[in-house]
Amino acid sequence: MEEANRQGAPTAGGAGAQAGGHRRGRSQRRGSHRQRKPERIPCELARPVFFVGFMGAGKTSVSRRLARLCGIASVDMDSYIERREGKRIRDIFAEEGEGRFRDLETQVLREMTQGDPALISCGGGVVLRPENRAILREGGFVVFLKVDSDEAKSRISDPSTRPLLGDAEAARKTNAERLPLYEEVADITVDTSGKGVTALAYKVKSILEKEGILWPRK
Ligand code: S3P
Repeated sequence: MEEANRQGAPTAGGAGAQAGGHRRGRSQRRGSHRQRKPERIPCELARPVFFVGFMGAGKTSVSRRLARLCGIASVDMDSYIERREGKRIRDIFAEEGEGRFRDLETQVLREMTQGDPALISCGGGVVLRPENRAILREGGFVVFLKVDSDEAKSRISDPSTRPLLGDAEAARKTNAERLPLYEEVADITVDTSGKGVTALAYKVKSILEKEGILWPRK
């Protein structure tokens, strides 16, 4: 799975979707293995859908891919905070501390429950505050993308963008500590191990349709 662009630019449906994030050359795209374009059917959402899970779980990539498939808006909370504050997340942590970042996160999370429902990818630590867990449970439908911390680390191309990731041991410990919190808020859990962004987006789509959260626009 490729790591999502952190600046809020939508990831293209096909570009970077192959393992390792390599784009295919023109000649390869024209070859016999050319991928079928995903079918795009405009849909509506009943409620906001929040993607939660550890760093590197694929929350941003999967929610953006699903948004493109369904013609629905997606918001990445970290990118939103970065644009609003005019600062990178790592600089907010370094200059103002984790507490300030968590306050911004709670403010933005509340905003996300208002207005037109969208697909929202949350930062991995959003579940730490009991207040946020209540907002998630009451304000929308929560998709927990589950990932093993070693796989998560391998998906993150620039660990300096994640001040709380740490080394392999620290990541394993943090992921294990947070697991019960992700489970507490989750309406559904999707295991992401070994799966690509598009397959996961289709899987979440079919679950949301079955749950009556997502349907084709009339
Ligand atoms: C964090 C995860 C990051 C970002 C911040 C803190 C965490 O988001 O919000 O660095 O505490 O797990 P991603 O989960 O999108 O990497």
